[in-house]
Amino acid sequence: MKSKGLQQNSGERMYIDRRHFIKWTGAAIAGLAGLSFTPFINSQALWGANRESSFEPDVDIYLEAVSRQVPILSGPDTDVWSYRGKVLVGPTDTLDLSDTSYLGPTFRLKKGQKVRIRFLNLLPYDTIIHWHGLHVPDLMDGHPRLVVGLGSSYTYEFEVLNRAGTYWYHPHPHGRTGHQLYSGLAGVLIVSDKEETSLPLPTGDHDLSLVIQDRLFDQNNQLVYMPGGMMDRMNGMLGDRILVNGRANASTDVDAGAYRLRIINASNARVYRLAWDDGRPLIVIGTDGGLIERPEHKEDVLLSPGERLEIWADFSRYPVDAGVRLISRPLPEAASGGMRGGMRGGRGMMGRGMMGGMMGRQSRLENETFTIMRFKVGSVTGPKLDLPDKLTPLERITRADADNSSVRRFTLSMAHMQGLINGRVFAMQEVAPDEIVHLGATEIWEFANEVSGMGMMNMPMVHPMHIHAVQFKVLNRWGVGHNGYMDKGWKDTVLLLPGEGVQVIARFAPYTGLYLYHCHNLEHGDGGMMRNFRIVL
Ligand code: C2O
Ligand code: CU
Ligand code: CU
Repeated sequence: MKSKGLQQNSGERMYIDRRHFIKWTGAAIAGLAGLSFTPFINSQALWGANRESSFEPDVDIYLEAVSRQVPILSGPDTDVWSYRGKVLVGPTDTLDLSDTSYLGPTFRLKKGQKVRIRFLNLLPYDTIIHWHGLHVPDLMDGHPRLVVGLGSSYTYEFEVLNRAGTYWYHPHPHGRTGHQLYSGLAGVLIVSDKEETSLPLPTGDHDLSLVIQDRLFDQNNQLVYMPGGMMDRMNGMLGDRILVNGRANASTDVDAGAYRLRIINASNARVYRLAWDDGRPLIVIGTDGGLIERPEHKEDVLLSPGERLEIWADFSRYPVDAGVRLISRPLPEAASGGMRGGMRGGRGMMGRGMMGGMMGRQSRLENETFTIMRFKVGSVTGPKLDLPDKLTPLERITRADADNSSVRRFTLSMAHMQGLINGRVFAMQEVAPDEIVHLGATEIWEFANEVSGMGMMNMPMVHPMHIHAVQFKVLNRWGVGHNGYMDKGWKDTVLLLPGEGVQVIARFAPYTGLYLYHCHNLEHGDGGMMRNFRIVL
């Protein structure tokens, strides 16, 4: 099986070289850097000669990764990395280029659209883009083996197969995803479809995307990544400032009407427990893979890195000039213990004093309630919309649909400060026999976040597990228990507190190839808590 894998992989590489990989000479790169954005992207000839694809895109997009300076805090600008883009052919509103601080343009795609994205890396590190949540062929999925270097491009071509929902894109080079995403590389990707547009949901400027991230800055307003060394690698990078859409102290004026808020946790490692500060319930209408069947009222919702949540917010319920804050509450005891390296208050061998010493840098937000964003309600009356009782019917997929009664089990553990999946770490091309899935199969995958071996050998940790290529349904969950889970609807990332287990069910289609599943705590993923699986005929 190994030699077959190798053959297949070298075949892929050739294919990439011929169709998707364009190298420019040093001189050409030096030339590019001197050109301003617009003239360069007009010279489409750069790509034309190398292409021999029959793919006919409905929309053709140029996207580059560059370094920039943006104002985030008062005082000096912050050095960031950013995606910038432009629509070359097709509807110009496909990219929302309105000011987004360092975030990339928001993609607005329609189900069924054929999209080409010509990505150019103008950063001095290898990188590749992953379209989180989308069903795309494996060569379009941004696997780390596909990275391109400075001055090289990668052309993505895919049809939008996903249902309407809130997806996102970010880098995926092995070992550097955390650093690159932290430096600013991320963007929102919204898919719409007919089913969704037929519903009376808020649209236009009443449909807001909120990308939540935490960051740590030095005195010169520059981003600081992993000052805690090994402890940050183990816990994941936690900042002490919350940014929403790249802004600190985020606040927005809203009118007295209904809004659809699409919340994306694009933080490296921080789990939020979202709530309104006035105690009203969050009205959840969607999760990772789009709308759920009917609105759910939740006191608070846990949102881990990679996950999305859509909420309905009716600001007409507030008096004029009043405000309301979206906050994050302290995490459940089990989670905050795990996230900070575990065992606060003497759970296990180490007491708090010892952990405090080991931790080095403590996160200011630990165990606190903090503000994510303020909504200031103005006197303008917004659209009068009533929350629908029913959203969209979802395809039923139950345990009985699984192709065989067997369950694929993945044990998550933390040993020697490294996250492991079934005791293994990531290897670029490696696929174990229990990581081969048949095309079209409906399978149950079980993740178990083990805390059995206490002490340094297995520290309790929070692991948001993400599977590429599919959207799944959560079948059941056991362990600690918390009412902040939002497991409804189609998901691609699922949170596991220490000691918890989850079973999910997915259909592995329509593409064969090499895909990833991993912990979306980015430092865990970069540290090797990631594996390939291969979908085969
Ligand atoms: Cu958003 Cu493989 O990740
Ligand atoms: Cu993904
Ligand atoms: Cu993890």
